[in-house]
Amino acid sequence: MLTVTHVEKVFSGQKVLDDVNLTLSAGEVIHISGGNGSGKSTLLKIIADWLKPDAGTSVIDGHVELGALIENPGFIETETLKRNLLFLLSIRHQTKLETVLPLVSRFGLDIQNRASMKKYSIGMREKVGIIQAVMEDQQLILLDEPTRGLDEQSLTELVKLIAELRQQGKTIIIASHDQATPIAYTDRYVLERGELTRITD
Ligand SMILES: Nc1ncnc2c1ncn2[C@@H]1O[C@H](COP(=O)(O)OP(=O)(O)O)[C@@H](O)[C@H]1O
Ligand SMILES: [Mg+2]
Repeated sequence: MLTVTHVEKVFSGQKVLDDVNLTLSAGEVIHISGGNGSGKSTLLKIIADWLKPDAGTSVIDGHVELGALIENPGFIETETLKRNLLFLLSIRHQTKLETVLPLVSRFGLDIQNRASMKKYSIGMREKVGIIQAVMEDQQLILLDEPTRGLDEQSLTELVKLIAELRQQGKTIIIASHDQATPIAYTDRYVLERGELTRITD
C-alpha cells in the first residue's frame, strides 16, 4: 500500500526527517505523535507527494487513491460548501454528491448552507477537510491533526468514522501532537528528532 524508505528532509540546514522508514498494508490504522515542529506534517506532505524528500523514497501502490487532510484545508473561499464539494467531486467523476450527504449531515454541516466557505469556523473547515479526504472511497487516508477545532459531538463522529473505515479495510495515518482520541490503532509511532519509531507496548 505504502512504502517509505530512508526518507530525509532538510529545511534551512536542519534535518527535519532523518532516515524515516514506514511500510503499511491495507487495513492498518496508525497514529503518529510528536511535538509541534517534529516533522509530522512534512512527512505526510512527502507521502502525499506535495513535497519531495531530499533523500529516500515514498511510494504508494499504483491502484491506490489517496485522500488527505494536511494542515489548513484549502477551499474556494467565495463559494458555498455544496459548490466546493461538487468541484472536488468533478475532478475524478466517480462519486455523486448524494452519496456524500450522509457524511455531511453526520458532522452537523448543512449542504444547503448559503454562506461562503470564508465564513466557516476552524472546526467547520476541519470537518469539510475530513469529509473530502474520505468521500470518494479513498484507500489511503492521511489525517493531520484531524481533531483540531472539533466539538464533542464531531469528535465522537470522527472516532466512529475511523472505526468504520478500518472495518472497510482502509489504510489510515493520523498525525497529532496528542493521543487524546480513543481510536483503536493497529500501531502507534512517535516522531522525535527526525526519527520515526514504533511504540511497542
Ligand atoms: N516549507 C518549509 N520551509 C522551511 N521550514 C519548514 C517548512 N515546513 C516545515 N518547516 C520546518 O520543519 C519543521 C517541522 O515542521 P512540521 O512538519 O510542520 O512539524 P509538525 O507538523 O510536527 O508540527 C519545523 O521546524 C518547521 O518550521
Ligand atoms: Mg503539523
